[in-house]
Amino acid sequence: MVAAWRPASLKFTPMGESFVAQVEGLDFSQPIPAAVRDELLAGLHKYGVLVARGTNITDDTMIALGQQWGQLDNITAHKKAGRTMRLPQDEIFDVSNIDPDDNIITVADALRTSSARGNAMWHADGAYNPRRSGISILRAVELPPKGMGGETEFLDTRTAYEDLPAETKQAIDGLVGLNTLMWNRKQANPEMQTFKDIDCTKVPLSKHKIAQVHEPSGRGNLYIGSYNHHIDGMPVEEGRKLIDDLMAHVMQDKYKFAVHYENSGDVTFWDNTAVLHRATLGQYHGKYRRDMRRISTFDNSSWAYGENDPLNSQQVGLT
Ligand SMILES: [Fe+2]
Repeated sequence: MVAAWRPASLKFTPMGESFVAQVEGLDFSQPIPAAVRDELLAGLHKYGVLVARGTNITDDTMIALGQQWGQLDNITAHKKAGRTMRLPQDEIFDVSNIDPDDNIITVADALRTSSARGNAMWHADGAYNPRRSGISILRAVELPPKGMGGETEFLDTRTAYEDLPAETKQAIDGLVGLNTLMWNRKQANPEMQTFKDIDCTKVPLSKHKIAQVHEPSGRGNLYIGSYNHHIDGMPVEEGRKLIDDLMAHVMQDKYKFAVHYENSGDVTFWDNTAVLHRATLGQYHGKYRRDMRRISTFDNSSWAYGENDPLNSQQVGLT
């Protein structure tokens, strides 16, 4: 008997204990069929993080894929804040270490260095915004020599939530985290005057519950990280202690996975509503070019705006 014909589909191979998979079968040199796009998204919701290698992806095909999953976040708020951009597309977040004049950024560029240090702390993209990010796609365009660092590390916040004792789950149910980009930058750059005197209780704060349901999988999730300054309605120190304790729980090695980039064309996809991530600075910093480009969709689940007012929700920008 001849087997029924099936369209070529993707192959997912788990890489971590509880999350992260390698995906094979993606080729962006041709339009991605809708069925493959949907299969990729379903895999992403299941594994939280996907890694693809040798995909022939370009800026344009990355943007086109993201747009099929939802409205894309953009850099207009950062432009308004005064940052000069290296890349022309407003949808692309330039997370390279290269400046608009094509030079490697060094510590002499204090603000860009402070951002790099901030991105090396655990976070979910866009958590400091009233409308948070959903899926992020990061592609490697140019990499430093092997062994120089630059991995992206991830935490499985769904499994970490599920492993919490029942009384902790009950205690954090309904609590609202207050988030600001300034808290991340302040922690990452304690000596920097730009952030030193900022009182993170007096800046605009985005409100997102810390215990959530990841709608596509129906699993619980801890939505915390380095933007989460304190808890709404709780004394600041008490909220900080709670967040620190929860972070210590999710930062355990058993929930952690590092994605290594091997070649230009490698792509990592992650679901910001199911995992936390951080960049690692590595020895390449200030010495070798590393060109990485990210796009992010806005979350389109019912948790997207958290406890923020969708009608009064300005996105945050930084130079
Ligand atoms: Fe990020």
